[in-house]
Amino acid sequence: VDSSFVDYRPPITVVVGHVDVGKTLLLDKIRGTFVAYREPGMITQHIGLSFIPWNAVERIADPLLTKFRLKGKVWIKGFLMVDTPGHAAFSNLRRRGGSVADLAVLVIDITRGFEEQTYESLTLIRSRNIPFVVAANKLDRIYGWEPHENAPFLDSYEKQREDVQGRVEEAIARIIEEFNKLGMDADRYDRVRDFNTQVPIVPTSAVTGEGLADLLVVLAGLSQRFSRDKLRVTYGPGKGVVMEIREEKGWGVTADVVLYDGVIRKGDLIVTAGLEGPVSTKVKMLVMPKPLDEMRDPEDRYMFMDEVKAAAGVKIIADGLDQVVPGAPVFVVPQEASLDEYVKLV
Ligand code: GTP
Ligand code: MG
Repeated sequence: VDSSFVDYRPPITVVVGHVDVGKTLLLDKIRGTFVAYREPGMITQHIGLSFIPWNAVERIADPLLTKFRLKGKVWIKGFLMVDTPGHAAFSNLRRRGGSVADLAVLVIDITRGFEEQTYESLTLIRSRNIPFVVAANKLDRIYGWEPHENAPFLDSYEKQREDVQGRVEEAIARIIEEFNKLGMDADRYDRVRDFNTQVPIVPTSAVTGEGLADLLVVLAGLSQRFSRDKLRVTYGPGKGVVMEIREEKGWGVTADVVLYDGVIRKGDLIVTAGLEGPVSTKVKMLVMPKPLDEMRDPEDRYMFMDEVKAAAGVKIIADGLDQVVPGAPVFVVPQEASLDEYVKLV
């Protein structure tokens, strides 16, 4: 393949926030999966990688895409979602997820507002200047809320009693106030006038599906504002970051990698970083969950790949990965290049 060929990757979108705010369930509801319920105690302890193709976004958000005149104008092909744990103990996993992100979703429990890891997540997002949207989740728990399954927030909101609308507004106002205290401007997404300076807030419910259309439309809108350059990828040698090192039955120790540029193939020589220095090894197998399924524990088995193009979440099976440090870079060494050069780079 011509390595100068240029394509655009699906934005790598990290989902962050305090423990239990509904990060995993939101993704489940969008994907139609059941990852959250399979986690021990419903606590996320790993980074979850999954691809949401554009046709799945359209299926959920079609009426709103039309309303906001985005229909047919969106050139991104979907989102590579990076789910992170909210538990205080896993700040290293959140940072790792954040390190590759083009976009972020900061999930806040609308009934609780800012919590400890909300601040931590925000610091992470701001340190890397990642465009983001707030999902003010658990909207269905606002007292008196009448659910309308899978309706856009704006439609469902209009049908609520006045006192219920008032409670929603109060909860949003409290979140805006917290942003103001941090020197940031925020507003309900449909009232945002300048997406460059104001944080859009989208009320959602991962249980009823309300607001998911709005959330996806805002994410699509934010991606459209990127210069295409930021998402430009080549078909050159693959580059990625190790999210997790995990033992898998029958495969030994494997690496879950976010590939952010280039291509990786079965048989490629790769270099990454180990506890005792650089590790170079040959890719024995590459596997991926199917679109809309998740890396941690795909329901529908893995797809076995000969090659994978950025951006993607991919599991690498190779010898010597037990030494590798999560967070390490991964480079495919092109045939004509010297291994030494890449070992030094790592
Ligand atoms: P960690 O990954 O451990 O940080 O948690 P999380 O943010 O991924 O939360 P998760 O999706 O596992 O949901 C936590 C709990 O909140 C579960 O009991 C969910 O059923 C519940 N929950 C999540 N979203 C909603 C929502 O929109 N409404 C209601 N009522 N409950 C929700
Ligand atoms: Mg979770």
